[in-house]
Amino acid sequence: MAALLLPLTILSLVTAGIVAVHNVSISLLDSAVARGAVCLDGTPPAYAYSPGFGDGVDNWHVFLQGGGWCHNVDNCLDRTRDPKGSSAKLMTEQNGVASFGGMLDANSTLNPDFYNWHVFKIFYCDGSSFMSNVEDVDPKHNLTYRGARIYDAMMDELLRIGMGNAKNALLSGTSAGGLATTLHCDKFQSLFHNTTKVKCVSDSGFFVHGEHFIGADWREAYFFNVISTHGLTNMLPTSCTSKFSPTLCIFPENLVPHIQTPLFLIESAFDKYQISNNVFSPSDASPRWINCINNLTFCNWSEIKIMKDFRYTFINTLKSTIENSSSRRGYFVHSCYQHGHMEYVRGSTCSLFVGNGLANKTIAQAVGDWFFDRSEFQEMDMLNDLPRNCTGFDDQPTLEKKCRDHIHH
Ligand SMILES: *[C@@H]1O[C@H](CO)[C@@H](O)[C@H](O)[C@H]1NC(C)=O
Ligand SMILES: *[C@@H]1O[C@H](CO)[C@@H](O)[C@H](O)[C@H]1NC(C)=O
Ligand SMILES: *[C@@H]1O[C@H](CO)[C@@H](O)[C@H](O)[C@H]1NC(C)=O
Ligand SMILES: *[C@@H]1O[C@H](CO)[C@@H](O)[C@H](O)[C@H]1NC(C)=O
Ligand SMILES: *[C@@H]1O[C@H](CO)[C@@H](O)[C@H](O)[C@H]1NC(C)=O
Ligand SMILES: *[C@@H]1O[C@H](CO)[C@@H](O)[C@H](O)[C@H]1NC(C)=O
Ligand SMILES: *[C@@H]1O[C@H](CO)[C@@H](O)[C@H](O)[C@H]1NC(C)=O
Ligand SMILES: *[C@@H]1O[C@H](CO)[C@@H](O)[C@H](O)[C@H]1NC(C)=O
Ligand SMILES: *[C@@H]1O[C@H](CO)[C@@H](O)[C@H](O)[C@H]1NC(C)=O
Repeated sequence: MAALLLPLTILSLVTAGIVAVHNVSISLLDSAVARGAVCLDGTPPAYAYSPGFGDGVDNWHVFLQGGGWCHNVDNCLDRTRDPKGSSAKLMTEQNGVASFGGMLDANSTLNPDFYNWHVFKIFYCDGSSFMSNVEDVDPKHNLTYRGARIYDAMMDELLRIGMGNAKNALLSGTSAGGLATTLHCDKFQSLFHNTTKVKCVSDSGFFVHGEHFIGADWREAYFFNVISTHGLTNMLPTSCTSKFSPTLCIFPENLVPHIQTPLFLIESAFDKYQISNNVFSPSDASPRWINCINNLTFCNWSEIKIMKDFRYTFINTLKSTIENSSSRRGYFVHSCYQHGHMEYVRGSTCSLFVGNGLANKTIAQAVGDWFFDRSEFQEMDMLNDLPRNCTGFDDQPTLEKKCRDHIHH
């Protein structure tokens, strides 16, 4: 497997000249089917693996893909028609190829700390942040809820191909994958000898409950439905469920304090997903509000005020969570209106636009400094209290030139 993939990776780097991503073929883990570790539609789970090289051969980066959750049967059934619930659909839609960009990229200029690591991306097809483990297949709809089994089967595969001997290991994920990272972090750590440096990075995975901020009832009802659809009541960490209801135990503010393994949070205080999806339910969102969340220039003052209040709740919740945590946390909290960073050059390795008080570092540099103990990175943008539109900033070549100049100085 490794022998087949390596030439593909190198070839794509050489032939493309300047590249901001590298292409890796997607594989199905057929051996997982026998243990019932399958996607919602019963197809085998999928991964993409780019082997480490040079002095990165002992370092492993495992990345959990995100993509929301399904919160009822119809919603999960919808997923079986796309890659978020079916590896068959994933293979067709992506032609069997995944693009590794940002902190998954093999380009040493753009991704200096992690470029030559083994990178193993696990695709998301269970709709439960890799947490479900329901034995019975729903007979009426033919749906299987087995995210936790997929996670376990993938870990066994990783150990089979050598991850157990890692010097450095990083578990990361974005969005629902960022939440999955938080939920699985200590279990991941337990796979290694105590001589391995093991850390976790949750990217845009800090979904706040914020009980005093508008929409708290909606957020609770939504995650209650996720938990009941996927049978997660007994799957959540007992360190939390011994104190709170299962619904509250899917919110990172109640989970993060108990995690023993070093954890880094990459967040926007104006998280686009949370502002768009977790403040008003679809039935309560006015057309005006929809226009505003899609294009900030259409927002009126009271809508901007809601975003400012979200930031206030978000920042206070995050700070209080960090203060309550048993071990130290790293974090990078900016003010750009976006969601998800690690897989994109614009989000992680070249994201100079998130500067402002964040130690003049890109997200990739911040995570690198923290992972290798060069500094304990704890930076939050306290200057901008308005959402910044950072997408219309520059074209890609200009951005990459700025990035090169920045890194080389
Ligand atoms: C990666 O694959 C995509 C389509 O799957 C293609 O458009 C692109 O050119 C490829 N990039 C490289 C660097 O090979
Ligand atoms: C890495 O990225 C830089 C900046 O975009 C680019 O100039 C360089 O050609 C890339 N390296 C490779 C091997 O593709
Ligand atoms: C249920 O899904 C499995 C796996 O995809 C498939 O083999 C089987 O035919 C499906 N059964 C029904 C009743 O649709
Ligand atoms: C690591 O584990 C070994 C044996 O399991 C033990 O002797 C050693 O003290 C441990 N080291 C640390 C730093 O915990
Ligand atoms: C701003 O938009 C909201 C709906 O999102 C609406 O209820 C409110 O009346 C608007 N305010 C002004 C001043 O237009
Ligand atoms: C957002 O609104 C501005 C101002 O009306 C407009 O110039 C821009 O094209 C809009 N962007 C999108 C993606 O609709
Ligand atoms: C950000 O700015 C760009 C260019 O001005 C615009 O097209 C886009 O709609 C804006 N995005 C948001 C979320 O307002
Ligand atoms: C942190 O701990 C204090 C005291 O136990 C508690 O009041 C507060 O709610 C906790 N913060 C979070 C975010 O859980
Ligand atoms: C930010 O970093 C760049 C490159 O490392 C440097 O040229 C610039 O002077 C720094 N800016 C500040 C304000 O420190």
